[in-house]
Amino acid sequence: MATEYNVLAPGPVNLHPKVRESLAWPMVHHRTPEFDKILKQVLTRLKKVFQTEQDCFLLSGTGSAGMEALLVNTLAPGDEILGIDSGKFGERWCEMAKVYGGKLTTLKTNWGKAVDPEAVRTHLKNYPQTKIVMTQACETSTGVLHDIHALGEIIAEYPECLFLVDGITALGAVNLPMDAWKIDGLVGGSQKAFMLPTGLTLFSFSQKAWKKIESNPQPRFYFDIRKERSANQKGETFFSSNVTLIRALNVVLDLIEEKGLEFLFQEIESRALFVRKYALKMGFCLYAERPSASLTALAVPAGVDSQTLRLKLEENHGTTIMGGQDQAKGKIIRIGHMGYITPLQQLNLMLDLCAELEKISGKNFSPAQKQAWEAEMRRDLGL
Ligand SMILES: Cc1ncc(COP(=O)(O)O)c(C=O)c1O
Repeated sequence: MATEYNVLAPGPVNLHPKVRESLAWPMVHHRTPEFDKILKQVLTRLKKVFQTEQDCFLLSGTGSAGMEALLVNTLAPGDEILGIDSGKFGERWCEMAKVYGGKLTTLKTNWGKAVDPEAVRTHLKNYPQTKIVMTQACETSTGVLHDIHALGEIIAEYPECLFLVDGITALGAVNLPMDAWKIDGLVGGSQKAFMLPTGLTLFSFSQKAWKKIESNPQPRFYFDIRKERSANQKGETFFSSNVTLIRALNVVLDLIEEKGLEFLFQEIESRALFVRKYALKMGFCLYAERPSASLTALAVPAGVDSQTLRLKLEENHGTTIMGGQDQAKGKIIRIGHMGYITPLQQLNLMLDLCAELEKISGKNFSPAQKQAWEAEMRRDLGL
């Protein structure tokens, strides 16, 4: 097994050296004063990333577990629910809502498009009994960032309607202030902007959501957040804590606090702008009409198979990016901007992408052109 990988996917991501080090610390039991102290720090500090006054929760499980936790706690069987489906992950959440007895209406957007908040306003006017509106903040299969602020304002006009947001590729990467944008349930995943391995989901609920949670007849056990909240109030988790990932999360929160959330957002955005600037010069096109800074989805030039391009980067350069899913398969590549990425990795990605593109398409850029790009890239990256 190679000792170094370069994971430039939209999650999982490269780990910071300090995080890698923390993953090798000796195990401590989760019912110890030492771990209690860490748990308390993490749960308190997470509020800054969620930008909320509410309690934040951690459960072992992937991001989808957190999406399910949001639903089972707030959705009663028979509730009318509006699910925004703008790609793979929207589709998955809609499926889940049906499993838990939601009377689902799907608001589909074409892939690459953001949802029009006015369409949600119209739906709520026509169906004011709607109990939940749910959407991805960033739909990772297309790279689109929805206008969560505008949606939050519209939904907040309905006292009985909750706004659930899958922030799995947005939370910690782009500004997503839970309280200010009137989000009632927000979920993140460890392997994205939290720069950790996969396996921990993070979420929080508004006061408006808590009213529903307390009275919701939906059956639930592992995801019953009332149990977790009382355990957290006693300084513990209800089930065995994910000690390794929670300790590593504490390290990540140190890193975030050192830089500041704003700085982190800017850093991620500048990586996105860098990739987009040079990818467009090479003949790629932006796939998302409203792109999220957390990842870039690029339509490949005509005649190029994006899956081949992605695999060549993997085989020849040890760099992982993603291709497209479903209808975008073969048509797009997706490059992540979250996690630990050095300027040199950014440079190499673009040089390698250019070289593989030339080989696959059979079209060569002039050596002078490539030298000029490389010089400009190095300047942009301060190399
Ligand atoms: C927006 C979004 N939602 C949900 C998921 C599912 O998360 P997981 O695979 O961790 O269950 C992902 C994973 O990539 C995602 O990007």
